[in-house]
Amino acid sequence: MAQIFDRSSNALARASLVLTGLIVIALGVTLDQLQRSPWVTRQGQRAEQPVPFSHKHHVQGLGLQCQYCHVTVEKSSYAGIPPTKTCMNCHAQIWTNADLLKPVRDSYATGESLPWIRVHDLPDYVYFNHSIHVNKGIGCATCHGRVDQMPLMYAQNTLQMEWCLDCHRNPAKNLRPTSEIYNMAWKAPTSTKPVWCAVTDEKTGVPTADSVNCTTQDPAGSGPELASLSLPAAGAVHAAVSDTSATMLPASLTYKKFTSQDELGHFLLVHYKIRTPKDLTSCEVCHR
Ligand code: HEC
Ligand code: HEC
Ligand code: HEC
Ligand code: HEC
Ligand code: HEC
Repeated sequence: MAQIFDRSSNALARASLVLTGLIVIALGVTLDQLQRSPWVTRQGQRAEQPVPFSHKHHVQGLGLQCQYCHVTVEKSSYAGIPPTKTCMNCHAQIWTNADLLKPVRDSYATGESLPWIRVHDLPDYVYFNHSIHVNKGIGCATCHGRVDQMPLMYAQNTLQMEWCLDCHRNPAKNLRPTSEIYNMAWKAPTSTKPVWCAVTDEKTGVPTADSVNCTTQDPAGSGPELASLSLPAAGAVHAAVSDTSATMLPASLTYKKFTSQDELGHFLLVHYKIRTPKDLTSCEVCHR
């Protein structure tokens, strides 16, 4: 009986199996890359907004604070996008005839919000909260980049899980004084530009960063009032409240000097009561 499949078709079958395998792998790799590509994550892309609103102009140019428009960023999970009324505070007087601003005037007249396209948008199954990050000393610029230099808004970071985890595994490298969260130009301390921090009435057990006071001005050298505070024996961290040998000033603070992000980050880690990397990377933190 003649063989139905001869030797050559056998080789063909093998070859096509290998080929199929290769195609599957290639497809997998492509999909994976696609999933991480800016095309999917929209990282770096400028959306087609109803109005070409410029953060550069309004923040750097006019000196407006982030909170002027994103009013809930410190208090709630959402930073919030400002209502048209906020724009009209000024644009009822400035640039009142500009074509660019017609959608703003129309929106104000009709009461319909401007259809801003979201630049950052996490999937619904991810829990995110602005207030906790901001109140634990993560600056806007750490996650959003130099917004004050963006003529049009874009996403500086991917917002993918790996990006969140990278910080949650080692938050110390990104912690700054809470007084500096809006500072777009904040830089980690160095030996030529140190940061001094003091701890005031720390309420034990309460996860608040309020009790940490930091300054970029040398507290020893800035006027009689501060200079008369009891200054530390090197390395001391705690407020000298119970120290009777110190001055009789009511709020005598002990400042500690930091000359690197590593030192500052670890100090803040303790005083902000940041959880351990193990806690912060457990799935329930972000997937509830
Ligand atoms: C005058 C009001 C105003 C000020 C001040 C302002 N913003 Fe905005 N912001 C807006 C508006 C309007 C949008 C929505 C349009 C857009 O995406 O450009 C926006 C969008 C954003 C977004 C993207 C939101 C999204 O869709 O994902 C971020 C991030 C942001 N702002 C951060 C900041 C930061 C940081 C500051 C301070 C440095 C700041 N903003 C100051 C009005 C303002
Ligand atoms: C504190 C006042 C103030 C607020 C609030 C404000 N603007 Fe403006 N805006 C200005 C001024 C001033 C200019 C003109 C800037 C220039 O040309 O020097 C301007 C310019 C603009 C322009 C022209 C393009 C540009 O950036 O130069 C657009 C568009 C605009 N604003 C949109 C908005 C929108 C949308 C909002 C609300 C989210 C808003 N503005 C809120 C003061 C304001
Ligand atoms: C730890 C990183 C992180 C920090 C710090 C941070 N943001 Fe965001 N921001 C995000 C993420 C993630 C989103 C997308 C949230 C979503 O899709 O639910 C976002 C969204 C926004 C939006 C869009 C509206 C909203 O609430 O979803 C604005 C506006 C904004 N951020 C402003 C700010 C400002 C202003 C600051 C500083 C005070 C800041 N952000 C600090 C990560 C951060
Ligand atoms: C630059 C650092 C940084 C980045 C990036 C970051 N986080 Fe965080 N996150 C922190 C810090 C610091 C805390 C506070 C931890 C603490 O207090 O123990 C925190 C806390 C949280 C919490 C706990 C909130 C609570 O109430 O228990 C959640 C949820 C969270 N982050 C989600 C996210 C998600 C989702 C992303 C990415 C989209 C993200 N974070 C990106 C630093 C970061
Ligand atoms: C710090 C916050 C955070 C933690 C902790 C975290 N995730 Fe995620 N996870 C995210 C974010 C943000 C996304 C959305 C990514 C995107 O949009 O591409 C995500 C997406 C996912 C997805 C969807 C598929 C994907 O990769 O996009 C799965 C599955 C997932 N996470 C599982 C887990 C598991 C399992 C754990 C615990 C080991 C975990 N996550 C811990 C933030 C977190």
